[in-house]
Amino acid sequence: MAKMTIKDFDLAGKKVLIRVDFNVPLTPNLEISDDTRIRAALPTIRYALDRGAKVILMSHLGRPKGRVVDELRLTPVVKRLTDLLSQDVKTTSDCIGDEVNKAVNDLKDGEVLLLENVRFYEEETKNDIDFAKALAALGDVFINDAFGSSHRAHASVVGVTDYLPSGAGFLLTKEIEYFEKILNNPEHPFYAILGGAKVSDKIEVINNLLNIADKILIAGGMAYTFLKAQGIPIGASKLEEDKIELAKQILAQANKLGKKIILPLDHIVVDEISADAKTEHVGLEIPDGKIAIDIGPKTRELFKQELKGARTVVWNGPLGIFEIDAFSYGTREIVEYLSGVDAVKVIGGGDTAACIEKMNLADKFSHISTGGGASLEYLEGKLLPGVGALKEK
Ligand code: 3PG
Repeated sequence: MAKMTIKDFDLAGKKVLIRVDFNVPLTPNLEISDDTRIRAALPTIRYALDRGAKVILMSHLGRPKGRVVDELRLTPVVKRLTDLLSQDVKTTSDCIGDEVNKAVNDLKDGEVLLLENVRFYEEETKNDIDFAKALAALGDVFINDAFGSSHRAHASVVGVTDYLPSGAGFLLTKEIEYFEKILNNPEHPFYAILGGAKVSDKIEVINNLLNIADKILIAGGMAYTFLKAQGIPIGASKLEEDKIELAKQILAQANKLGKKIILPLDHIVVDEISADAKTEHVGLEIPDGKIAIDIGPKTRELFKQELKGARTVVWNGPLGIFEIDAFSYGTREIVEYLSGVDAVKVIGGGDTAACIEKMNLADKFSHISTGGGASLEYLEGKLLPGVGALKEK
């Protein structure tokens, strides 16, 4: 990677300001339900601490829209981080100001401080210059390890890089390496699996991957707009009426490029979407009133056949409504199958990553991204602002 990284700096005795993405899911009791993002930042934090740096961490949590929202304080994260690091994590009730300056000045080498949610200031999302300067004034060096936030041109991600020597942490570096590899230099055959509810969320990903991948397998809610575009009855399944034309164009473009787009052949359907709904298996044509919520057994076999021999696979988006256990069999079966396939396997963050973590199969994949929106934008072929802001070596 040509960007400056944490390894390019002498950190001993320095105040190292690290942007992490501790935007973790919380239960209604404010307990962390998945700490993957905190664990993913540990190598960078430990590296800096081991080199005798004073570590100052900053993150957002949720979308408080520039106000202090008590439920979105980073308090649950402090507790978890303290356990994971096995060392005291100091905190402040703000992310800039006198209290913060004092806490930073009191920090000793090898100590760590977590600032309060940076999004309690609207200046954060506006990438305000003065706010960025105030954050930057806390450190000697800035490290971005927040891949999940790097598609946001915010003050703590992008603005600070104007005022401090900056580099990527280990997590950000690993994410960039995998995405660059699959987008710029993938081993072929390269197959993409795209799921999720909406065609509109994935248009740019499909357009970009049509030029890079050899084949695209499409399922999940978005598949039904494609089936409808081919004149296939889809019952009451998810449809984006205004995207039918676009789906036709995408199918025509794939044809022109000689790339296969694989769509479901059969479906699991229900009368209404609820956890105890009675499921039914139907063929390609979905009867009136029925809602497809998962791929059927023939499609699962078809997908496995189509994935055979892959050297690279990228997957973004579940193949059904996998949050409901009874509707998750298709996604699970393909996760299980892929876990045994010997290829470079990159999973976009968000729902697909959560599903694999839940199935305890994370170690069977080459890379599971910690970024939902960020990984999508990467797959769209965009340069993430947080990455673009880091200096070249
Ligand atoms: C995420 O969860 O995808 C990141 O933390 C970014 O959060 P945001 O979509 O609120 O900017």
